[in-house]
Amino acid sequence: MKLRDKEKDVIALLSEAQRESKHNYITEEKLKLIAQEAGLSYSEVYGVATFYSLFSLKPRGEYIIRVCDSGPCHLMGSRSIFEVLEEELKIKVGETTPDGKFTLEETSCLGICDEAPAMMINEKVYGNLTPQEIKKILKRLREKKW
Ligand code: FES
Repeated sequence: MKLRDKEKDVIALLSEAQRESKHNYITEEKLKLIAQEAGLSYSEVYGVATFYSLFSLKPRGEYIIRVCDSGPCHLMGSRSIFEVLEEELKIKVGETTPDGKFTLEETSCLGICDEAPAMMINEKVYGNLTPQEIKKILKRLREKKW
């Protein structure tokens, strides 16, 4: 198997490990297991995990909110989306709420520029965001049980 194919396998295994983790991150033990399974060294797997910004080696919230700040979204007001989220969640970009429910992150283009500004929460993408819509989305997520 070529390294490129192995890397694809590792990405799939890392995605699965992160998805299965309640706190959206990959533990050191999981990295070791994935290295064994893929037939790669720990440092090769660590390198892949730290290269892709969608992976985290630190615990994060149940919901990862990624706000797009690429050109079109920036022009359409992504900064005000960050402000609403920071105010509602009482955290800054890169932080997690004390209850472990939300982590706020910045990301690049999510591929729905015609619906800017946009964000992604876990694997769901939201476009045409307004402060009111953000508050509704957060309310729904806050009411969900763990
Ligand atoms: Fe934000 Fe493309 S620039 S979705």
